[in-house]
Amino acid sequence: MTSIILAIESSCDDTSAAVIKDGKICSNIVATQAVHEKYGGVVPELASRAHEQNIIPVVSQALLTANITKSELTAVAFTRGPGLLGALLVGCSFAKALALGLQIPIIEVNHMQAHILAHFIDDPKPAFPFLCLTVSGGHTQIVLVKDFLQMEVLGQTTDDAVGEAFDKSAKLLGLPYPGGPLLDKIAQTGNPHKYTFPIVNMPGYDFSFSGIKTSILNFIKNNTAQNPEFITQNLADICASIQQALIATLLKKLLIAAQETGISEIAIAGGVSANSGLRQTMQQYAKKYGWNVYIPDFAYCTDNAAMIAITAHYKYLAGNFASQLASPDPRMKL
Ligand code: KG4
Ligand code: ZN
Repeated sequence: MTSIILAIESSCDDTSAAVIKDGKICSNIVATQAVHEKYGGVVPELASRAHEQNIIPVVSQALLTANITKSELTAVAFTRGPGLLGALLVGCSFAKALALGLQIPIIEVNHMQAHILAHFIDDPKPAFPFLCLTVSGGHTQIVLVKDFLQMEVLGQTTDDAVGEAFDKSAKLLGLPYPGGPLLDKIAQTGNPHKYTFPIVNMPGYDFSFSGIKTSILNFIKNNTAQNPEFITQNLADICASIQQALIATLLKKLLIAAQETGISEIAIAGGVSANSGLRQTMQQYAKKYGWNVYIPDFAYCTDNAAMIAITAHYKYLAGNFASQLASPDPRMKL
């Protein structure tokens, strides 16, 4: 029997809707909220309001692009968490109301699980079991993916997420929000070995990124005290060196996890998987260590509803539906 699912993502500052028909993505519309730029970060209250304004046009466009009418839908999926409570509430309430009106089931989706399952939208697809380095603005995890809906977190950050470290470093250098992609762009013309930033070694497969922020702050203070133009004169080299340190921190633990589990199917997922340095380093590791590396398309790295849709597809096949009492879970675990 045909399944046609409308999926909604509203966990942070992107309002997105996608339609998936029998496991094939038919549309994926993303409205990125520009309102946060002048504040230098996401303002939760403004994110909720922007979701409220965007959700109907975004859903209408997703249905139109997919050439699907509401009455053809067999389920509605939404991101239940993790994310901002007010932002999640908009997607959750919208999905529940629409499904109630259409008398069809709802499916709740974990945002981090969806980042990982984005690898099953297109080919090539990783084989189970695989390791996934999930790197976003809110998370940094090494996940053992045993099956579509069976995942185990092997290690994670004990403080800041790596996306946060990119964004905060960019902010310290005076770059506008969102800093991660811009730092990446500037780093491409710089020397990654010009400056050294610490690679913090945590126990097991865990990470820590708060120390590097302090060391960047001290580095900037010390150097600008001697030369006020230091940052502008060396921006590309500073960006490249920071990026290098962040990537080295990630890859150090990923390599140990791969060696200790004996798994060579390795994926990356989440917003930071758009980073050009990380993508290149993954390809180098693939050659050096015989890994099969899976890197998502740019469209599926940062937040999008297509990844919610593909996850919902597997939950639909498993008959895994939510109750109308479902509510957002801002700290939802994998
Ligand atoms: O997955 P995502 O869109 O949202 C969350 O679930 O958090 O990830 C957003 C994060 C932000 O911190 C952003 O700066 C970072 O991903 N990011 C990047 C790049 N593109 C996005 N960081 C470094 N280099 C990039 N090219
Ligand atoms: Zn995300």
